[in-house]
Amino acid sequence: MKILVTGGAGFIGSHVNKLLLDQNHQVTVVDNLSHGSKDNLDSRVNFIQEDLNDQPKLEEILPGHDAVIHMASLIEVGESVKNPVGFVENNILGTIKLLEAMRKSNVKKIIFSSSACVYGTPLKTPITEADSLQQQENPYGLTKVSMEQLCILYHKLYNFDVTILRYFNPYGPGEQHIPETHAIPNFIKSVLAKKPIPLFWKGEQVRDFIYIKDLANAHILPLTQSGLHIYNVGTENGTKVIDVINKIFEIVGYKVEIDDKGERKGDVQTLVASSRKIKNDLGWEAKVGLEEGLKETIDFFNR
Ligand SMILES: NC(=O)c1ccc[n+]([C@@H]2O[C@H](COP(=O)([O-])OP(=O)(O)OC[C@H]3O[C@@H](n4cnc5c(N)ncnc54)[C@H](O)[C@@H]3O)[C@@H](O)[C@H]2O)c1
Repeated sequence: MKILVTGGAGFIGSHVNKLLLDQNHQVTVVDNLSHGSKDNLDSRVNFIQEDLNDQPKLEEILPGHDAVIHMASLIEVGESVKNPVGFVENNILGTIKLLEAMRKSNVKKIIFSSSACVYGTPLKTPITEADSLQQQENPYGLTKVSMEQLCILYHKLYNFDVTILRYFNPYGPGEQHIPETHAIPNFIKSVLAKKPIPLFWKGEQVRDFIYIKDLANAHILPLTQSGLHIYNVGTENGTKVIDVINKIFEIVGYKVEIDDKGERKGDVQTLVASSRKIKNDLGWEAKVGLEEGLKETIDFFNR
């Protein structure tokens, strides 16, 4: 298939591109490089530096593609609180312009990168896809809910095939966001530099850490699905943040100090997915355990 990946110069996109190319798909990446990097791009990718908000350009690029994997987004929660207008313009307006350009180009299949953030403060654990999206905590989560709704609307109005993937906590080689606010890369970088690890809530929060290669795999089967589908993509295992740190210490064979940062407003205590639905529908499930995933991630940062 000929697939257009928006935001494909970012962390997750770079892994998805490689997987698609290895399976003989053709990949066009549209990315404005506001956060990603050309260094993340496989040499086989057809790269176009472009912003989603340039709808006429998208209408030139899209014809002839079979599907879009829509990953382009501003993603940093704290930044979204400081700059809600920028997040709405980039994420929501960017998405409606992409969908319109797709409609006009007759490209009617989209796989959308959503997030566990849409559940805000979840009312129960594990979280299923039917759970409430009413408890929004920040503009980033709200833009993701809106982006999902726009995709769903284009399914209803124009019969688009839509698969929404709600990622839980991805981690793995290549994760180098600027700024980096995610736990695992920051912990590993501190440990390798033998510096104290900044830690909130004494590491008692529970997260569902999903290894990047498992996550990338979840994008393949939806390419041949029709209709509307919404899936959580997680391991179904909750891990305390402090246990991740202890596992990293075990792998490297030494410990560093913990820099106790106390509590942080807006953090959710527990986020664990039920991924039954994607397993039942597509046979996808996470295969890489935390120890193996951490080892590969530590190797990456060591290199
Ligand atoms: N990394 C995570 O922990 C996580 C968790 C849940 C969901 N997601 C979602 O997965 C997707 C990819 O995340 P990532 O970690 O790879 O982020 P990333 O920042 O590494 O990649 C996003 C890419 O989108 C590009 N981009 C942003 N706005 C754009 C625009 N208007 N036009 C063109 N390109 C634009 C950026 O330059 C960047 O390369 C995002 O949609 C994100 O919301 C990520």
